[in-house]
Amino acid sequence: MSSILIKNAQIVTMDQNNRILLGDILVEHDRIKAIGPDIQPPAGAKVIDATHRIVIPGFIQTHIHLCQTLFRGQADDLELLDWLKKRVWPLEAAHDGESLYYSALLGIGELIQGGTTCIVDMETVHHTEHAFTALAQSGIRALSGKVMMDKGDEVPTLLREKTSQSIQQSVDLLEKWHLHDEGRIQYAFCPRFVVSCTEELLVEVRDLSERYRVSVHTHASENRGEIALVEAERGMRNVVYLDHIGLANERLILAHCVWLNDEEKEIIRKRKVKVSHCPGSNLKLASGIADVPDLLDKQISVSLGADGAACNNNLDMFNEMKLAAVLHKPTHGPTAMKARKIFEMATIGGARAVGLEDQIGSLEVGKKADLAILNLNKFHAFPSAEVDPVSRIVYSASKTDVETTIINGKIVMENRIMKTIDEEI
Ligand code: GUN
Ligand code: FE
Repeated sequence: MSSILIKNAQIVTMDQNNRILLGDILVEHDRIKAIGPDIQPPAGAKVIDATHRIVIPGFIQTHIHLCQTLFRGQADDLELLDWLKKRVWPLEAAHDGESLYYSALLGIGELIQGGTTCIVDMETVHHTEHAFTALAQSGIRALSGKVMMDKGDEVPTLLREKTSQSIQQSVDLLEKWHLHDEGRIQYAFCPRFVVSCTEELLVEVRDLSERYRVSVHTHASENRGEIALVEAERGMRNVVYLDHIGLANERLILAHCVWLNDEEKEIIRKRKVKVSHCPGSNLKLASGIADVPDLLDKQISVSLGADGAACNNNLDMFNEMKLAAVLHKPTHGPTAMKARKIFEMATIGGARAVGLEDQIGSLEVGKKADLAILNLNKFHAFPSAEVDPVSRIVYSASKTDVETTIINGKIVMENRIMKTIDEEI
């Protein structure tokens, strides 16, 4: 059995008592076996000296498009619908299996280098098989699925699917990949957004998600033009419509949620829908600013995601945390989003969003060993006993401070060299 002993670390546990400990973490096989002072290495253990380092739970990003990693710098001055029509959809349609594989692998490499250990990912219409291969090989934890889009005159014909085909291909992928590698990889249904999905498809997705107990991952209330289209075609606001279909439940992950009205917020609260806040993408696509302090006041689950590299031009959780922390200060005051709250959204909050809070999101004995080791002892973040390390991480750390990333008990990046897990596909 493989074991890793991390010695002399400052450990940000994110457990129920929010403890910060000084000591060691023993990882055996895929889990945290012990946390405490002076743990002796078992025979054959790899020992990592983490003196002056901070160990954190790996970041969980609840909205990513790995298929878009290669599309940076495209149509950077456009809003959502034009950006989709003019650049992103034609580019997604142009993917072949090989380009999708490398797009996914490059994105995963960046995520792992930045301490992200779990993602909720949405692929394109075709070739999703190749993205799953990259997910399996890289060692990252993921919920992923092919995007579904069976409607819309402006969707390129190459991307527009027949409803039955979209469903069948999704189910085939689910049957092949769901719970791969002892559950490290899960399937999630990904109807792109209401604009590109027929009611027939959404109803079918509702039933399949219920039958297989898997998440549904979609975009909603991101942009005013999108909302107007949904209202014109379905006669309802976005989230009201999703609730009307029966999709609003605890397995639904809604990316963006910038323009929710009170009725929609109440549906989200009542049905325990999970919101994925994407501040970088919302600013870059001029979508708007989601009122996250209000959502949190209403006890709504909010986690974080970078969105695709095409939306945001990076996949960096440190960037998202910093933006989420500063975005509301001018309107809501300096303590609107405390660093601890942001860090919770980036870790255990993400775990709750994907229903894996018993497995990941905090550093506790018995949980999966998904973690990152940070070195903040650099001139830009002068260490001080008075400063909460979480505040230092949220406000002054960056992805180059991540030295080691461990997922499922395996070192996937060490001293900034990415490793590949040894897996037969
Ligand atoms: N809404 C529908 N598709 C997309 C997408 O690819 N990115 C973003 N940000 N919003 C979307
Ligand atoms: Fe998106």
